Amino acid sequence: MAEALIEVDDLSVTFRSEHGRTLRAVDDVTLRIAEGEVLGLVGESGCGKTTIAKCIAGRVAPSSGVVRFDGRELGLKRATEDRRAIQMVFQDPYSSLNPRMTVRHVLSELLRVHRLVPRADIETRCRELMSLVGLPRGALDGLPSQFSGGQRQRIAIARALTVEPRVIIADEPVSALDVSVQATILRLFEDLRSRLGLTVVFISHNLAVVRHLSDRVAVMYLGRIVEQGDRESVFSDPRHPYTRALLASAPRLHQIELVRPTVEGEPPSPIDIPTGCSFHPRCPRSEEMCTRDRPSLEPVGTRAEHFAACHFRDEKSPEAPEAP
Ligand SMILES: Nc1ncnc2c1ncn2[C@@H]1O[C@H](COP(=O)(O)OP(=O)(O)OP(=O)(O)O)[C@@H](O)[C@H]1O
Ligand code: SF4
Ligand SMILES: [Mg+2]
Repeated sequence: MAEALIEVDDLSVTFRSEHGRTLRAVDDVTLRIAEGEVLGLVGESGCGKTTIAKCIAGRVAPSSGVVRFDGRELGLKRATEDRRAIQMVFQDPYSSLNPRMTVRHVLSELLRVHRLVPRADIETRCRELMSLVGLPRGALDGLPSQFSGGQRQRIAIARALTVEPRVIIADEPVSALDVSVQATILRLFEDLRSRLGLTVVFISHNLAVVRHLSDRVAVMYLGRIVEQGDRESVFSDPRHPYTRALLASAPRLHQIELVRPTVEGEPPSPIDIPTGCSFHPRCPRSEEMCTRDRPSLEPVGTRAEHFAACHFRDEKSPEAPEAP
């Protein structure tokens, strides 16, 4: 893998639950994200995806571990330049857009405050940003309420791009959109990555959504990464039973409905993490040792870029194609 732009080392985040107990939202996660790559971060609701994203973006403080960007350790207090470099886009753009401000107002204000272009060029830059996200320049005069969900997501992306970030963390950016619109926003991310060389962390509960977009995929379960690898390996030969279950239940992109893929059984609570392998109460492959020994994320066979946290990671997936 190319040199990492973002390095997350041994990151853990705990919260206090309503009843005063410790909730382990992120548990000892290590991640590398190379410049210009798209990393898909996938897992069921509550597994810790947003918390990792917020640590990288400097919105949540890690309980332990570090986030490095371009080789420098970043905490919550960041220089303006570092804050600009990593932008987040959320599932519900409506809640993050001021209903009384036109798109032009939002974008030009940012350009002015950050002195990104000379005053005389602000209008031109606003138009360029609209074009980048596939909206007509007339959209600059609109208020958030005048746009559809997909258009609002394009506006949220334009706003993130205004400050010329190097990284965009997109947190479930298509989950609230109509099925037909989801694919168009995914194509926009693809386009932006190739045109601007952006690094993208794309978060979704649905593996089908990240399938086409991601160079690499990290699958999370109860605060930990349980499988990680290049897209081809993870999709064609998943080695963690949880990834297999997610894949089996994920509809193809053209069939995505607004339902979440289901894995048998309830996800356990991050307040009461099971002993041994935390997936064992739901795992069809579980054996006695799984209830006792926690597997760490280890390479699969001799593959340099494929890791799984399962005692049986070297067993080939039943659906995997035969090696040539
Ligand atoms: N500020 C907080 N205080 C207490 N608990 C929190 C806080 N933020 C997140 N959590 C808990 O941490 C766990 C991980 O939450 P997180 O939002 O990171 O999950 P997620 O994978 O993004 O889920 P979703 O797919 O539903 O967005 C959950 O159990 C959540 O309830
Ligand atoms: S270690 Fe055991 S319980 Fe965990 S995923 Fe592998 S087989 Fe299942
Ligand atoms: Mg989330």
